[in-house]
Amino acid sequence: MRKLIAGNWKMNGLRASSDVITEIVQGLEGTEIEADCLICPPFTLLGAFAEQTAGSGLKIGAQNCHAVASGAHTGDVSAQMLADIGASHVILGHSERRADHGELSSDVAAKASAAVDAGLVPIICVGESLADREAGLTRKVVLGQLDMSLPDALVEKPFVIAYEPIWAIGTGLTADAGQIAEVHHAVREALVKRFGEQGHNVQILYGGSMKPANATEILGVADVDGGLIGGASLKAADFLAIFNSAG
Ligand code: 13P
Repeated sequence: MRKLIAGNWKMNGLRASSDVITEIVQGLEGTEIEADCLICPPFTLLGAFAEQTAGSGLKIGAQNCHAVASGAHTGDVSAQMLADIGASHVILGHSERRADHGELSSDVAAKASAAVDAGLVPIICVGESLADREAGLTRKVVLGQLDMSLPDALVEKPFVIAYEPIWAIGTGLTADAGQIAEVHHAVREALVKRFGEQGHNVQILYGGSMKPANATEILGVADVDGGLIGGASLKAADFLAIFNSAG
């Protein structure tokens, strides 16, 4: 399957960060790797980056959206607005949003419906905490989140899953190849069970302290169809090095 290398800038980046985008676009021009490449900056930079990357190999996505298209929701941004400004993807249900904003899987499912209605590709995040893993609950937690975060509206619509063990995010710890293989296999089985043939074609990304030094190994694991990269996506050279491991 074609891989997707996606950068989640989280709450980082100012207008001057367009230099990083320029460097990534230039780096992509010089590569023969056949993979999708995406950067998800904060809302404030979406419009400028979408214009800057138009016609290039780099796509631009958002990190959240509201579940309805418009209305009295002060401070929120709808999926329709994101599509209108040139975003192709939207990350939904990241563990930081589940923790900081109390987002439930049911909220994520509603947002995912809004995203596909607006023509966006949702990247739906799931992942267990360290306590879950130590209690032997990884499979139950991840598959439970998956089941409840995916609306039926995704049938025959493109969408992406990101498996991000919470204990591996921003910690320098990564799940090992065996742990990643086990969860990705379970996610694939669940997708096929629910969505049939479509489930075979959903990209399943790994996220959590991915960096140039571990990207080749992680991207080589069965059912790993790309990466969702936080810290290392803020530096063009590191992000491009990870992208170049996707071949
Ligand atoms: P890090 O790559 O910084 O661990 O972040 C992973 C992540 O949360 C991507 O969404």
